[in-house]
Amino acid sequence: MATLRLGDEAPNFTAMTTEGEINFHEWLADGWGVLFSHPADYTPVCTTELGATARMKEQFDGRNVKVAALSVDGLESHKGWIRDINETQHTEVNFPIIADEDRKVAALYDMIHPNADNKMTVRSVFIIDPDKKIKLMITYPASTGRNFNEILRVIDSLQLTAYKKLATPVNWKQGEDCVILPSVSNEEAHELFPQGFNEVKPYLRFTSQPN
Ligand code: BEZ
Repeated sequence: MATLRLGDEAPNFTAMTTEGEINFHEWLADGWGVLFSHPADYTPVCTTELGATARMKEQFDGRNVKVAALSVDGLESHKGWIRDINETQHTEVNFPIIADEDRKVAALYDMIHPNADNKMTVRSVFIIDPDKKIKLMITYPASTGRNFNEILRVIDSLQLTAYKKLATPVNWKQGEDCVILPSVSNEEAHELFPQGFNEVKPYLRFTSQPN
């Protein structure tokens, strides 16, 4: 299959997970999604990542985002490892972990990079919007734990674009000024942003972040 690119439809699949069988698109329903792979169960970096993700549930829920993890280990392995994650990371894993033993989902999402490791998945992340379109793809090496605050930050930015016609500038954080999309005219900007905006250049317009 062709390489996935931003804007492509997220491939659908049916898979067994630690929360039962899911049809991915039906499970996402009309919300946003994060699908992320990790190299293997019972590994140190992954243990910290899954624990942190579980502790961030409220932040994902507040943004209407469902999270699913994946590795090519089996269901019983996942279930045993969850007990360790809960114990060592002081949380309860509260999202499904896909058991992709036949590597079906990993192949659909190109999560195995043979020159890094020809059996295990790398650390891929996909953010998927309510139209099932892929909005972000990132790939980390196995030895580097991801920054899930950055994933939340990108979701905030994507939602500002989707719902408010705003982009976010370099190193933007929650509460900081946003950039008005170039496709928005000044006339429309006055209607959309009653708080006003600062036109530094015709192509560079800032406004405060709406609620
Ligand atoms: C891990 O914890 O997943 C891991 C750590 C170092 C190298 C590869 C994987």
